[in-house]
Amino acid sequence: MTLLHWHYPTEILVGENASSQLATLCQQQSIERPLFVTDPSLAATQAIRGIIAACHNGHLAVSVFSDFSGNPTGEQVESGIRCFLEGRHDAVIAVGGGSSIDTGKAIALVAKQQHPLWQFEDIDDNWKKADPSFIAPVIALPTTAGTGSEVGRASVITDSQSHCKRVIFHPKMLPEQVILDPTLTVDLPPHLTAATGMDALSHNLEAYCSPSYHPMAEAIAIEGMRLIKLYLPIAYTDGSNLQARTQMLIASSMGATAFQKGLGAMHALAHTLGARYNLHHGLLNAVLMPYVLCANRHYLHEKMQRLSHYLELDKDGFDGVLEWTLALRKQLRIPHTLAQLGVTAQEQATIAAQSVNDAAASGNPIHLSQEQYLALFNHALNGTLDL
Ligand SMILES: [Fe+2]
Repeated sequence: MTLLHWHYPTEILVGENASSQLATLCQQQSIERPLFVTDPSLAATQAIRGIIAACHNGHLAVSVFSDFSGNPTGEQVESGIRCFLEGRHDAVIAVGGGSSIDTGKAIALVAKQQHPLWQFEDIDDNWKKADPSFIAPVIALPTTAGTGSEVGRASVITDSQSHCKRVIFHPKMLPEQVILDPTLTVDLPPHLTAATGMDALSHNLEAYCSPSYHPMAEAIAIEGMRLIKLYLPIAYTDGSNLQARTQMLIASSMGATAFQKGLGAMHALAHTLGARYNLHHGLLNAVLMPYVLCANRHYLHEKMQRLSHYLELDKDGFDGVLEWTLALRKQLRIPHTLAQLGVTAQEQATIAAQSVNDAAASGNPIHLSQEQYLALFNHALNGTLDL
């Protein structure tokens, strides 16, 4: 049997107002000068200003780095590194969605290394070039329930020279402490609650469907989907419901823990289309979900049977799961086609070629050829469910 390498998350503090413990947690970890990495719109909010004030009151020498975009670039990470070094910081506190947490993790990895950022791209054993003793600790506080970057060991950073996204990886990029505080997510508007929540569902669902052997990740994925079924509609209709917000944060962390097992064609196409059309990643996964399920249906019989029973769906097996995802999308006002997002048939051959080569494609239940990606793309573009 091949040797398998399994990873599990980190210290997680979860609950209402858990972020009020931040200064204490820093003190317990001997952190004195953390760099706060959070995007500009969040830095101005009452909640984040309150957290920073509490850190000052806890005698922490905090400064804030916010000079990065929704798709952070290598130059922006370099700018954060200068900020980290000039402020003589000893840790990163990353607060926000995937972009803030990915930027913070990349700064913490690279700031004190001898090699620049791209030397740590997730290729072969590049990560071994890093001196682990120079990696700064990261405390992550997600403000969306979707990417799960807070429990991940990588960052996605845009290379603006070559216009592509690169994955920066090191096992020690995993934040040492995660704080899941639902009060930080209550201001997320319904359409973003829907899109990020569907990203969390796509992580759990693709991980569950991926054929690699990882029963622990599979168990996490199926329970993650149960939480999303119960709580995403509530978080969408009543954003102030702290129980629903808490359960969605947990389901999001579960999805990112589970997808070490593999992702699939949803993410392969979503990565390609996201880079080309600058569309929301979770929204793309949400639109693509039923089309990808249909493309894989003949390989999912037993798993869909189990999933439909576990989720207590109205109908058994594949059809039950498909109907549930379609109904959930409708409830969350997710468009049914890529055309409704402004995607066109232009460059469809290039989109298919890039998707088949995307890293996520290898986790799909079956290998889909370039022609199959082309057909899948066209089904999703025009709203044809290939039953
Ligand atoms: Fe995703």
